[in-house]
Order: sequence, then C-alpha cells, then structure tokens
Amino acid sequence: MKSPIALSLSLLPFLTTPVLSAQPYSSWMASSFLAKGVEKDLGYEQAVLYRALDKVHTATGNASYSSFIDSQLEGLVNDDGSIADWPPEKKSLDDFRMGNIYLLLWEKTGEEKWKVAADTLRDRLNVQPRNEEGGFWHRDPDYPNQMWLDGIYMALPLYVHHTRLFAPTNATAFLDVHKQFTLIHEHVYNETTRLLYHGYDGSEPASSRRNWSDPETGASPYVWSRALGWWTMAAVDILEELDALLANSSATGDMQHVKTNAADLKAQFQDVMSGVIDVQRVGNTSDTANGWLLLLDPELAEREGNYIESSGSAMFVYSLLKGLRLKYFTGDLAQRAKTAGTTGYQGLVQNFVKANATGGYLNWEGTVEVGSLKGDASYEYYTTVPVVENDLKGAGPFILASLEYEAL
Ligand SMILES: *[C@@H]1O[C@H](CO)[C@@H](O)[C@H](O)[C@H]1NC(C)=O
Ligand SMILES: *[C@@H]1O[C@H](CO)[C@@H](O)[C@H](O)[C@H]1NC(C)=O
Ligand SMILES: *[C@@H]1O[C@H](CO)[C@@H](O)[C@H](O)[C@H]1NC(C)=O
Ligand SMILES: *[C@@H]1O[C@H](CO)[C@@H](O)[C@H](O)[C@H]1NC(C)=O
Ligand SMILES: *[C@@H]1O[C@H](CO)[C@@H](O)[C@H](O)[C@H]1NC(C)=O
Ligand SMILES: *[C@@H]1O[C@H](CO)[C@@H](O)[C@H](O)[C@H]1NC(C)=O
Ligand SMILES: *[C@@H]1O[C@H](CO)[C@@H](O)[C@H](O)[C@H]1NC(C)=O
Repeated sequence: MKSPIALSLSLLPFLTTPVLSAQPYSSWMASSFLAKGVEKDLGYEQAVLYRALDKVHTATGNASYSSFIDSQLEGLVNDDGSIADWPPEKKSLDDFRMGNIYLLLWEKTGEEKWKVAADTLRDRLNVQPRNEEGGFWHRDPDYPNQMWLDGIYMALPLYVHHTRLFAPTNATAFLDVHKQFTLIHEHVYNETTRLLYHGYDGSEPASSRRNWSDPETGASPYVWSRALGWWTMAAVDILEELDALLANSSATGDMQHVKTNAADLKAQFQDVMSGVIDVQRVGNTSDTANGWLLLLDPELAEREGNYIESSGSAMFVYSLLKGLRLKYFTGDLAQRAKTAGTTGYQGLVQNFVKANATGGYLNWEGTVEVGSLKGDASYEYYTTVPVVENDLKGAGPFILASLEYEAL
C-alpha cells in the first residue's frame, strides 16, 4: 500500500492542481498547513501538529517541515532556552506537551537551548500538584484532584522520554509514570466495554467531588472519544520508548519493576484497543464511516446528536496501525486491528479530507473543538460543542495515521 495517489485522485475529481496531489496524504496534509499558516503558540495543539510535521520531515527528508517548526518557535523559546511568557505558577498538564518538541529538536540538532527548555518542563513535573493517591491534577487551580485521559498524553510521554535520555536509571520516575496509568485505570475503566471514561475526581471526602462523579469511583459519566484517543496514543508511544529503554538495560533491582510495568501497560493497551475495535462503526454511510462516535458508550450509539468525530477516529487509527507495526497485537487481535485500522483510515480519507479547490490544498473536517469536565459533563454538553475545520488536534493525528498507513 505504498501509493495512495490513485485513491486520492479518484476521490477528489474536482482537484485543479494535480501536481500537489501527486504525493501521499501525509505530506499533502502537512504542506497544506504550511501553506495556510499556523498561529505561533506553545500550546498542546501546536505541539500535536509539530510532532506530525517532524515525522513527515523524517519520512521525506524535505527540510521545509523542520524549518517551519523552527520558525514557529522563534521568539517563543529564547536563545538561552528560557521560555517567553511562561509564568512559574502555571500548572496545567496541557502545557507539558510542547516539551516533546524541545526534546526532538535537541536530539536532531544538539542545540543546548532545547535541552534547557525541556529541562524546565521536566522540573515542573516535580511540583505539579497531586491528589491523595499521587495522581497529577489536570490543572491547578481549575481541576483540583482530577485526572483526565487528556493529561496522560500531555505529560507522560515527555516524562518518559526525558528520563530515558537523561536519567535512564531513574526507576522512580518510570514507576511514577506507571502509577499514573494505574490510577486512571482503577478509576475510569469499564470492564464490560473495556473502555475508559473521560476522567475522575479524586477529591476527598467523596462529598466534595464534582457533581458528575460516580459515587464509587469518581469517574465522569461518558467515554469521550478524543480523550480515549489521547490515552491510546500515549500508551503506544510510551511502549515504544520503554522498548528502547529496556532493550538496553540489564533490568536489575528497581529496573526489573519497570520491565514488569511495561508488560502491564502493554496488556492495558491491548485490552483497551480491543474495546475500541468493538465500537468501530462498520460501514460507509455518514453515520458509520468506519469511524468512531463522539461518545463511545454502546447505549449511546443510536442516540440523536451523537456523530462520527474525526479527531478521535484519527487517533484510534494511528494507535491501531502503530501498535500493529510494533507487534503489540498478536493472533486474532492483530487481524482485527489491521482491519479496523485500514478501513478506519479509508473512512477518514473519504469523510474528513476535503480538497480546497482554489489552492490545491487539503482541509481537515469534522473535529470537535473541545470537551471538558469543567461543566456538568452531560450528553447535551458534549454533543453541542461546535465542530470545526482544520483543527490541529485532528489534522495532526491524521498525518501520523497516514504515515503508518503509507508504510503498511
Ligand atoms: C518540500 O515541502 C515544501 C512544503 O510543502 C514544498 O513546497 C516543496 O515542493 C517540497 N520539496 C520537494 C523537493 O518535494
Ligand atoms: C484555499 O486555500 C487558500 C490558501 O490557504 C486560501 O487562501 C483560500 O481561502 C482557501 N479557499 C477555500 C475555499 O477554502
Ligand atoms: C528521578 O525521578 C524522580 C521522580 O520524578 C525525581 O523526583 C528525581 O528528581 C529524579 N532524579 C534524578 C536524578 O533525575
Ligand atoms: C546501549 O548502550 C550502549 C552503551 O551505553 C550504547 O553504545 C548502545 O548504542 C545502546 N544501544 C541502544 C539500542 O540504545
Ligand atoms: C462503500 O463501500 C463499498 C464497498 O467497499 C463501495 O463499493 C462504495 O463505493 C462505498 N461507498 C462510498 C460512498 O464510499
Ligand atoms: C459499563 O458500561 C456499560 C455499557 O456502557 C454500562 O451499562 C455499565 O453500567 C457500565 N458499568 C459501570 C460499572 O459503570
Ligand atoms: C453540576 O455542576 C456544574 C458546574 O458546577 C453546574 O453547572 C451544573 O448545573 C451542576 N448540575 C447539577 C445537576 O447540579
């Protein structure tokens, strides 16, 4: 499956600039964002796109993608590695995501400033507030004692990668990462669906928790696809990191526990992905699209207002195809993952990739703007958030999914 070109042309008969289409979707979508321009910001949405652009750079060798990232960070990270406009009291897990970009730039260029910037974020993890069981608060002060699946993706890959690069025998850090996964799993996992709810409130006493909390577990009421997508991407990316770490570690003492934990995380990943495959909407009508619904609880599948959402779908496709490539699925699960990942990918292209006729560029459609546990976390809340075009939280994962698909 090396050439999606024929597919792209047949799907996009109105395209007026064939030159631009003569490339895989990964670089086509990536170059579309270069052409459209991206707001300069250190937020996690930009970090998600930049990671995808970096992978396209690696895949194509085209330096335009890496110089774009450089130019986007100019003025935001100073020459000495200090981060502009970064108040020391800021404590939101969302702000850690950009640390992954600093690390990859450090690995590519060896420039000290990127290490300084990454170190700053790593050190902030040491003072991020935690709930009574040791779980990172999603944000101080807004979301005290709450863990969200989103935060797993925002903070933990940086935590793992930084530790692997600069303190590879710091078992305490790896054990702490596993503890974050464990707490989330204990509080938000549903045994029947094998899916994870959006988050939980770990405030004590239970009477002080937010009104959406399950009385026993503290969990929020619904499985929101993007939050679960963040979790699946974090899990597969961290498993890859741990493979690299443990391949080269004698794994004695506490590092032996890190190895056991990696096996446990892999089992969690396999189990949850199996649940994800079960709720794929098989078929190519607009309410199936071989995609995944905004809210994945099976009893909501036919409820009015629920719809196929593009960012969560792209994240699942990426996680399925990358998990397959890294051989994290075996036997029957590997076959199911391959079918779900490839049909899911074709669904993304058919339903959410649209040509911009005037420029020959692509637009990315169908991504819900936000989903939060700020309010009442109700069905009405989730399903009435606007759906927007060219959202980086959807387009970035689509580019990553494309690279996996193109490498099949
Ligand atoms: C590299 O990417 C840029 C930006 O998308 C594009 O304009 C240029 O044509 C590409 N170069 C090659 C050699 O493909
Ligand atoms: C197409 O993309 C170009 C370049 O970004 C932009 O100027 C133009 O407004 C877009 N047109 C449509 C119809 O989206
Ligand atoms: C090891 O990780 C722990 C937990 O994050 C941290 O408190 C400690 O400072 C780290 N030690 C080193 C030497 O990096
Ligand atoms: C393992 O560690 C050795 C010694 O530090 C190093 O030379 C080698 O490149 C490492 N291998 C991998 C796969 O990281
Ligand atoms: C749906 O899938 C069928 C079988 O793969 C195919 O023949 C048909 O063209 C598809 N329809 C759309 C709208 O993509
Ligand atoms: C697990 O999910 C099923 C299907 O959504 C639901 O009916 C059940 O109540 C959930 N169980 C728990 C303990 O939340
Ligand atoms: C739950 O709390 C939220 C936020 O404080 C509030 O907007 C909502 O009205 C409350 N819902 C109920 C049913 O009390």
